[in-house]
Amino acid sequence: MCIANLMLVVVVLWTGSLTLASPRRQPNIMKKFWGKPVCKKYDLIENAEWIQRDSCEENKRFKCRKGYQLLVQTSCKKGEWCLEPSCQRNVPTEYKYKFKYSNETTLGTRPFKTIILSVQENCDEKCKNDSNCTAGYLEGRRRCEFYPEPIIFVSLDSFRDECINWCTERIECVTLSHDRSGDGYCYLFNVTLDQIPENMKNPYEMVDTLAEKVCE
Ligand SMILES: *[C@@H]1O[C@H](CO)[C@@H](O)[C@H](O)[C@H]1NC(C)=O
Ligand SMILES: *[C@@H]1O[C@H](CO)[C@@H](O)[C@H](O)[C@H]1NC(C)=O
Ligand SMILES: *[C@@H]1O[C@H](CO)[C@@H](O)[C@H](O)[C@H]1NC(C)=O
Ligand SMILES: *[C@@H]1O[C@H](CO)[C@@H](O)[C@H](O)[C@H]1NC(C)=O
Repeated sequence: MCIANLMLVVVVLWTGSLTLASPRRQPNIMKKFWGKPVCKKYDLIENAEWIQRDSCEENKRFKCRKGYQLLVQTSCKKGEWCLEPSCQRNVPTEYKYKFKYSNETTLGTRPFKTIILSVQENCDEKCKNDSNCTAGYLEGRRRCEFYPEPIIFVSLDSFRDECINWCTERIECVTLSHDRSGDGYCYLFNVTLDQIPENMKNPYEMVDTLAEKVCE
């Protein structure tokens, strides 16, 4: 996508709506124009997320997900110069670790909140909108479960290897737990085992895999 062009389109539209509005009524029109249905249309680049703002202002801002770095590259497309941002994985070269496995306990917790989603709603977005939710899990397509810190990812339907891969892929993942309850519960955490609250430790569940990233 060519960002330079997108901005141009936005500016033209905005000027257009200004000429229609009397100064007093502007705020309303602004809200409508920059209200979510319109604003949402810009497809975020991969591995980026919106920075939440109270209202939709002249431009939306995004940032790269944790562990990714924003790079803006210039390219020529059909004779025009475009600025194309991208979020690149930012792995420090000396970031080397190995997994330390143990089986003393499994980790996890019940969601602190579950909401029923309507057809087009997105569980991750709902989670981001709740200041206490750090991981959303979509169960059976309609149920969106909210999990608290220090959990950063949940899947209640996973193989052990998948769970380990998810933790490997996320630079912020420090501890993982996988157990064979149900369809394979995978929880990822961004803190070390000793920082995980006691009430998230379940030593009597079916012990499978507990692993911590430790520096080599
Ligand atoms: C737990 O770990 C210990 C030591 O690594 C091992 O001897 C034991 O078999 C493991 N138990 C299970 C249930 O995997
Ligand atoms: C986010 O939360 C606020 C306040 O609870 C609510 O008014 C708004 O509709 C929510 N937005 C979404 C997308 O759920
Ligand atoms: C988040 O949790 C705190 C402490 O339990 C609570 O006071 C607060 O209302 C919660 N916030 C939301 C948005 O639910
Ligand atoms: C873990 O993630 C939560 C939610 O994103 C964040 O608030 C917290 O600072 C993170 N903790 C660490 C140790 O990175």
